[in-house]
Amino acid sequence: MNTAALIYDRFKRVLGEDTPDCVLREKAGIAQEIIRLKKEKNAVILVHNYIDPLIFHSVSDITGDSLELSKKAAKTDSDIILVCGVSFMGQTAKLLNPEKKVLLPVKEAGCSLAESITADDIRNLKERYPGVPVVTYINTYAETKAQTDICCTSGNAEAILRSIDSDKVIFLPDEYLGRNMARIMGKKLILPHLEEKGEVIGWNGRCEVHKLFCPDHVKTIRKNHPDAIILAHPECPPQVVKAVDFTGGTKAMIDFIQNSNAQKFCLLTEKAMEKNIVLNDHRKEFIPVPSMRCPHMEKITLENILEALHREKYEIVIPGEVRAKAAQAVQRMIDFNWER
Ligand code: 13P
Ligand code: SF4
Repeated sequence: MNTAALIYDRFKRVLGEDTPDCVLREKAGIAQEIIRLKKEKNAVILVHNYIDPLIFHSVSDITGDSLELSKKAAKTDSDIILVCGVSFMGQTAKLLNPEKKVLLPVKEAGCSLAESITADDIRNLKERYPGVPVVTYINTYAETKAQTDICCTSGNAEAILRSIDSDKVIFLPDEYLGRNMARIMGKKLILPHLEEKGEVIGWNGRCEVHKLFCPDHVKTIRKNHPDAIILAHPECPPQVVKAVDFTGGTKAMIDFIQNSNAQKFCLLTEKAMEKNIVLNDHRKEFIPVPSMRCPHMEKITLENILEALHREKYEIVIPGEVRAKAAQAVQRMIDFNWER
């Protein structure tokens, strides 16, 4: 079998129920051309867990959550790194590989969390709370990261917060992730504009996808599928996180499902995840939830990946001054994780 036939076969197994055959064949042909071109250009393709299954199951060299992509990006020896994810993920790969060409298949793929805070906002917080360490979620832009002490992802936020030797910590910009982490640690999150008192100083950023889940979703699933295990990303509202059976970043959710003996699951996160969890075990069933696609992740297609490799665009560029400081915050996170 040639490459396109092998890819078509995989597509058929994972997506055959919902996607017409002619579409799968056409997409397999595009994927084959991408694979040829990436060899020719010595490129590596990083794919986040929320990216379209047609991409995830065909052209990816490295798949994972934000933490895995950052760690593996730091180790690659390819000349070109093509990031299938949103802009801040492309920036993270560039911060860790300043000498390499890092491409994103679209000019911009935003993120409501990254856009919720600016470098000036952080400067103001640092003036208001002098000497308090600043932990910033990886879902931020380089200018913002440059103002912070250390980054974290959903996969290591708790460990990094616990490692900070200080009574107070500034944790930005996801209010819900902050509230969920503060609750686990038995601390209180304050939002400066609301003047509450507490040990974790947060911000009012929210993921436009995860904020839409509500406790009623959990109630309905429990009523209709009492045997299903419900999982939620920690960017979901705290009332949702409290009501589910497991909370974790995308990798933690995948690991949980793959290691579980249960057969029915419900994922309160971005919709692409279900099909991206390789279903070697076909007894595992996913309860459908309202379709929540991230409009920014959704912009990445096989077509624009092919175009990006051909034309070597859109190259991520981060100005030197910002790059050095932002890279330090990301590198501290990576070093932290590798030590454990
Ligand atoms: P993970 O780091 O858990 O993959 O999450 C990234 C993200 O953007 C979640 O919305
Ligand atoms: Fe940002 Fe939410 Fe999309 Fe993740 S799912 S990239 S947090 S908007």
